[in-house]
Amino acid sequence: MIVLAADHGGYLLKEEVKKHLDETGVEYIDCGTFSTDSVDYPDIAKTACEKIASGQCSLGLLFCGTGVGISIAANKIKGIRACCCSDTFSAKYTRMHNDANVLAMGGRVVGPGLACEMVDLFLNTAFEGGRHQRRVDKITRLENENR
Ligand code: RB5
Repeated sequence: MIVLAADHGGYLLKEEVKKHLDETGVEYIDCGTFSTDSVDYPDIAKTACEKIASGQCSLGLLFCGTGVGISIAANKIKGIRACCCSDTFSAKYTRMHNDANVLAMGGRVVGPGLACEMVDLFLNTAFEGGRHQRRVDKITRLENENR
């Protein structure tokens, strides 16, 4: 199960990605927002990322205008490794090397075609472990030291 969420700047892209997930049979929880009315992306990031932190969802897709604000907010939540991407290489390698559990995208930056390609790569690429595990463990240590 994956979780999706967007602010008003990412709402339309979230809806496009949902259509793609429906077509490809991927199950998801949609934490909103459900219109283009203005909302604050940190609130949206919190609601969605709590589903990952609790174990209810394994991966998340977040959207705002740039993808940047919502990824910064997501990365403040313990256990979240969010990557803001606008290219397929990064979307794939952030799974392989960083064990990213959230892909953030900008509704005002990327089109639906590119977004769906990034989503497919992100959802279907495994973490490589090995030397990358050591580095991810160091990220976790930083997170624990700075609380
Ligand atoms: C909202 O206007 C916009 O600031 C937000 O969607 C996002 O781009 C922030 O990083």
